[in-house]
Amino acid sequence: MVRSLIIGCGHYLPEKVVTNHDLSAVLDTSHEWIVERTGIHKRHFAADGELTSDLATAAAWDALKSAGLTPQDIDLIIVATVTPDQTFPSTATIVQSKLGCRGLAFDVSAACSGYILALSTADHYLRLGSMKRALIIGAETFSRIIDPQDRKTYVLFGDGAGAVILRAENNPGNRGILSTSMHSDGSYRDLLYTDGGPSLTGTAGYIRMLGREVFKHAITKLVDSALETLAHKNIAAEELDWLVPHQANIRIIEAIAERLNLSPDRVVITVAEHANTSAASIPLALCKGVSDGRIQPGHLILHEAIGGGFVWGSALIRW
Ligand SMILES: CC(C)(COP(=O)(O)OP(=O)(O)OC[C@H]1O[C@@H](n2cnc3c(N)ncnc32)[C@H](O)[C@@H]1OP(=O)(O)O)[C@@H](O)C(=O)NCCC(=O)NCCS
Repeated sequence: MVRSLIIGCGHYLPEKVVTNHDLSAVLDTSHEWIVERTGIHKRHFAADGELTSDLATAAAWDALKSAGLTPQDIDLIIVATVTPDQTFPSTATIVQSKLGCRGLAFDVSAACSGYILALSTADHYLRLGSMKRALIIGAETFSRIIDPQDRKTYVLFGDGAGAVILRAENNPGNRGILSTSMHSDGSYRDLLYTDGGPSLTGTAGYIRMLGREVFKHAITKLVDSALETLAHKNIAAEELDWLVPHQANIRIIEAIAERLNLSPDRVVITVAEHANTSAASIPLALCKGVSDGRIQPGHLILHEAIGGGFVWGSALIRW
C-alpha cells in the first residue's frame, strides 16, 4: 500500500511586523477589540516588490532543507493561493523557475482551505503512482487585497508562506496522510469574496465578508468535516494528539476544539503572531509545532479549514 508521508516542512514570514497598535493609529479600532474578538496581536506584511512567489520560494527552500532534498528531487509543485503574482502564469510555475526544477507545477484556488485541497490533491497523485515527491506550498500576500478603509476586515489578515514535502512511501506502517475530506457549496459565495477580479473588474478587488455568518458556518462545517475524516479511519477525536487548524480566529478554534472534546493544550495556535494568512496558516502552524518539539513521530494530527466559496475540509495525518 502506498501512502504520502510528510518528510519536511518550512516557513517564511515577511520582515515587516504590523501590530494592533499600529493599526489603531490609522483605523477606528483598538488592540483590545482585536484581541478580544479574534486573538490576533500582530501580522506580517510583505515589503513593496516582495511577491507571493518570493514568500513561497523562501518557504520551499526551508522545507527542502528540512527534508534533506534539492529542487531536482521534486516532480510536483502545488501552490495554494488566492493572491497570485499574476493572473497567469500560475505562481507554482514561477516558484518552479525560481527553484530551477522541472516536473508539473500548478496552483489551486480555495482561499483559506487551499492548503488542505493542495495536500489532498498531491496525496491522490502520489498514491496513484504518477509522482514520487511533491512540494506543497500555501502562500499569500493578503495585505494587497484588504481595504485600508474597512476595519471589519483589515485587522484580520496577514502575509506569509508555509510548505511541506510529501514522499510516496510503499511501506508506510501506520504513518502518513490517513484520510482527507473536502467539500464546497457555492451558494455561500456572497458571504466571503473579493469585489474584483480579472473578468469582473480588471482589478484584484478587496475582501468583503459577512463576519458573523462566516463565523457560524465555520464552526458547524468544520466540526462535521473533522468527524467525517476521523470516521473514515474509525478514530475518535479524543485519540488526536494535535489539532493544527486554520488560524482565522481564536474563538472559532476554541469552539471547534471544545466540540471535539480536545483540551486547549492539544491545539497548535499561532493566530496571535501572524493573523489569518489564508492558505499559509496551516503549514505555518504545523512548522511551529514541529520546530518547537510538540509534534513528534507517531503523533496523530488533524487539520481543518474553511474559506471563501465556501470550500472546507480536513486531513488526518500520522506524523
Ligand atoms: C470578524 C469578526 C471578528 C467580528 O466579530 P463580531 O463579534 O462578529 O463583530 P461584529 O461584526 O458583529 O461587529 C461588532 C461591532 O464591532 C465593530 N467592529 C468591527 N470591526 C471592528 C474593529 N476592527 N475594531 C473595532 N470595532 C469593530 C462593528 O462595527 C460592530 O459595531 P456596531 O455594533 O456598533 O455595529 C468575527 O465575526 C469573525 O471572526 N468572523 C469570522 C471571520 C473569519 O474567520 N473569516 C475568515 C474565514 S477563513
